[in-house]
Amino acid sequence: MTQFEINSDISVARCLSPSFYLDDVYFESSRDHIFSRTWQFAGLKSDADNIRPVTLLEGFLDEPLIVTYDGELRCFSNVCTHRGNLLVSESCRGASIRCGYHGRKFDLSGKFLSMPEFEGVRDFPGPEDDLAGLEIREVAGLMFVAFDPAGSFEEFFGPTLGRLADFENSNTAVSTSVYEVNAHWALYCENYLEGFHIPYVHKSLNRELDFASYDIRTFRFSSLQTAVPAELEKDSGRRQEFDGKAAFYYFVFPNLMFNFYPWGLSVNVVEPLSPTRTRVRYVTLETDPSKRKTGAGSDLERVEAEDQRIVESVQKGIGSRLYKPGRYSVKQEIGTHHFHRLIAEFMNQGGAR
Ligand code: FES
Ligand SMILES: [Fe+2]
Repeated sequence: MTQFEINSDISVARCLSPSFYLDDVYFESSRDHIFSRTWQFAGLKSDADNIRPVTLLEGFLDEPLIVTYDGELRCFSNVCTHRGNLLVSESCRGASIRCGYHGRKFDLSGKFLSMPEFEGVRDFPGPEDDLAGLEIREVAGLMFVAFDPAGSFEEFFGPTLGRLADFENSNTAVSTSVYEVNAHWALYCENYLEGFHIPYVHKSLNRELDFASYDIRTFRFSSLQTAVPAELEKDSGRRQEFDGKAAFYYFVFPNLMFNFYPWGLSVNVVEPLSPTRTRVRYVTLETDPSKRKTGAGSDLERVEAEDQRIVESVQKGIGSRLYKPGRYSVKQEIGTHHFHRLIAEFMNQGGAR
């Protein structure tokens, strides 16, 4: 298997090999090497139903899970430990879960409770008759789960958690929308990870930002991009507001984007479908609709369409026999370099332990 290599020194490094995006083998192995070893979005916490089926990364991991809440949030397999029937097909309320095939019962932590007609079965029940559990965490009503994470929730999310905590108990209107893009998931993410393209691709957004102030910081598994509003110098009132920033763009490896704007938060979840197709789910938590019409967070649909167009163009370009991975801008592509380094690390080792 090709080892992916990205030099740690950005000034001599070259971008990721096109084979990562083009080769089915790597798309397949990224399920285990990247997506099973990182924290994945599992939906919004609901107070209405205490038992909910969740299909993790539908069309990719397709992992059937159950999330339960009885004062404690839990996540475990939705597959019966008898002969593999799916246990729960829709959200409901209850104190236990009973399999619809032969009546095996589990409690809300996934522990085996009872099974009819099993007299005489030796060494039964055992620990393998309980439903396998996953780690689950919740912040600002957003749930995240991980199979075998390469780091803790805190390590992955880093400073994103502090800003998400501001949304706890705040009065938010939640909405979701979904886009599909004809490109590899990682091309969509690496485009997000630099502001370099803003003056060329996003003319209207560029007018809202002071491009010279664009800043990027990287952490172990996450990064943060910020920019100052273009007219801040003229409007000192806005300096106090929102820490003087037009937006905070947090990325959590490998596929989570948390965009904080003065009006609220847009969470973008990038979901692989095939090596050339990606679903992007926008979950929007709006705290102040009156600020929706101004600044960097005002015309998101237009910015999204512009990004999709350029990413689809890159998808076509990297398939060229004549394309060889290019060099990075030391100043502008720190986030993309950091992302490529993480991809190489996870693909080569299955994630650092
Ligand atoms: S498959 Fe669930 S009880 Fe048989
Ligand atoms: Fe963009």
